[in-house]
Amino acid sequence: MPGIIVVGSQFGDEGKGKVVDVFSQKADYVVRYQGGANAGHTLVVDGKKTILHLIPSGVLHPHTVCVIAAGVVLDVERLCEEIKALKLNGLLKEDSQLLISDSATVILPYHRQLDQARERAAGNEKIGTTGRGIGPAYEERASRKAIIFGDLFSRETLRAKLETALKEKNFLLEKFYGEKPVNIDEVMALVNQVSDYLAPYRCKDTSLVIHKALKGSKKVLFEGAQGSLLDLLHGTYPFVTSSSTLAGSAMIGSGIGPGTVNSVMGITKAYTTRVGSGPFPTELDNELGERMRQIGQEFGSTTGRSRRCGWLDLVALKYAIRINGITSLALMKLDVLSGFEKLSICTAYELDGQRISEYPVSPGDLGRCKPIFETINGWKEDLTKAKNLKDLPRAAQEYIQFIGAQTAVPIDVVSVGPGREQTLWLRPLFS
Ligand code: IMP
Repeated sequence: MPGIIVVGSQFGDEGKGKVVDVFSQKADYVVRYQGGANAGHTLVVDGKKTILHLIPSGVLHPHTVCVIAAGVVLDVERLCEEIKALKLNGLLKEDSQLLISDSATVILPYHRQLDQARERAAGNEKIGTTGRGIGPAYEERASRKAIIFGDLFSRETLRAKLETALKEKNFLLEKFYGEKPVNIDEVMALVNQVSDYLAPYRCKDTSLVIHKALKGSKKVLFEGAQGSLLDLLHGTYPFVTSSSTLAGSAMIGSGIGPGTVNSVMGITKAYTTRVGSGPFPTELDNELGERMRQIGQEFGSTTGRSRRCGWLDLVALKYAIRINGITSLALMKLDVLSGFEKLSICTAYELDGQRISEYPVSPGDLGRCKPIFETINGWKEDLTKAKNLKDLPRAAQEYIQFIGAQTAVPIDVVSVGPGREQTLWLRPLFS
């Protein structure tokens, strides 16, 4: 199959950006299909770090066309900044390398304002959102009042649409949250500026572009954002994001039919991290967790927040495999576990005195689950120079084998550092 979907199988930040970047060497198209600037994909090329929030990670390869499809919520101000930064570093040479769907939902400053006002008002009950306006933008889309990317280019009708949207938003901001209202002229000034800048990237129908690419046997990579456990319907609700983060969303967000792509790679760290609130059964709120955080540099690339750290959770991983239809796995950041004397892997939970092996989906149940661990020996050796599986110490190989055996899904990729060259291919891509 010429297409592959790359999804996060935990709480986001699994290392999807690196996998997509490495895969993009062989891909003709890379498509972002959901989420927005809440994502942060860190890429390290020749020791130089680039963080992308909206533009697909394939952009670093000049031959790869990057598509931002209809399912994305597009912060147009941030997108301009991202394009400018890439151009400044000589990383986006041709405008034709980036296509933005006319149907993508636009995020403007008032979406961010509303997101942040809500979180402040929620106090201890807050979700811990990224404050990037994701929830308000998807809500507006569902209420059929959203500004879509194509609207930016019809200024007369845009003003009327904005007036309608702002009536409601300003009511909420002023009367409900006690915040400053938004001035329409300021928003229009911003929109005029960004729409001129973004006009070269406009694409009326990205669904057609993707359809033709797949039909023409081009290699198309669908780049998921966030992780399966943050999915709006199947994640740890209400501590989730506002889009569907699962592989099925690649079809809907891009506008292609089910069955068109049936290769799904699940990205998992060799341990687990989570940012923001919500249940996390294998969390290590202790010195071990702090060690993982420091060695793995587990600080958010979007908000800079510390990530909560814990052991690998196979109950959750198997759930992600099931709900996404994951056909292969990439195991990331294995190098971070060097030096841990013993490694624990969660293989079941105890819920209200019962041992369970299926992920509990009822709200509240996961918070009461206690992890049941199997413990295996760790290793001391540095893994970052390994070039293939045989270079890894026996204990690290056993750790990989254990995960493969428990999940019954092939592990195609093992990552032992942030660089492109620190990637072990256990099975070639697009084979
Ligand atoms: P929102 O997507 O900004 O509304 O945030 C909702 C929840 O998803 C919060 O717990 C965030 O920390 C989390 N979240 C959103 N995007 C990411 C991501 O890219 N990586 C990790 N967590 C994320």
